[in-house]
Amino acid sequence: MSDQLSPSKKPFLYVVVCAAGIAGDVGKLIAAAQEQQWDVGVVATPQALGFLDVQAIEARTGYPIRSAWRSPGAPRPLPPADAIAIAPATFNTINKWAAGIADTLALGILCEAHGLGIPTAVLPYLNSAMAAHPAYRQSLGRLREMGVLISSSEPHRPKSGGGADRFRWEEALELLAPEVSERQ
Ligand SMILES: Cc1cc2nc3c(=O)[nH]c(=O)nc-3n(C[C@H](O)[C@H](O)[C@H](O)COP(=O)(O)O)c2cc1C
Repeated sequence: MSDQLSPSKKPFLYVVVCAAGIAGDVGKLIAAAQEQQWDVGVVATPQALGFLDVQAIEARTGYPIRSAWRSPGAPRPLPPADAIAIAPATFNTINKWAAGIADTLALGILCEAHGLGIPTAVLPYLNSAMAAHPAYRQSLGRLREMGVLISSSEPHRPKSGGGADRFRWEEALELLAPEVSERQ
């Protein structure tokens, strides 16, 4: 929780959405977070925008979905984050984040979050064939070293339909809860 947070102000959660098949269900996480008294803003990768009902999400959160960098001098569209949940997180974004690549706004925010000490939880969603790539294991190891909280869910079998019904969106909030309450 940021030092500026007053007792009456709700903590602000960034939900970072990547271009995975279940991204369209991110409303489940947004609703769960709001029920737990978070204010929520969504940051989508450019690829993820095509998976989302942008209007519905913006109506639900009350904030524009951010996907691109603002122009220099333009106001910040979202308040600063007290915590970040990346859900779903793709193979692509996880590997680039761990490698320190910031070529999307989402990655820029994630790369900076470590230095800012913002509690961050990631829910990867990918198949086991992608997860077998050696870079992926190394990326998760590096993210763990950085203090990132990683979900317990296992990659699904390729061509299995994805196991979207078993994806526990609320695990992001469960992972963040101890970190956030510690700072209050
Ligand atoms: C319909 C569809 C479903 C996809 N599902 C996944 C997925 O579940 N996990 C994943 O890592 N990539 C998935 N991809 C591939 C990513 O969209 C692709 O790697 C993209 O470059 C990721 O961009 P991002 O990480 O910037 O969001 C999918 C692509 C499509 C077209």
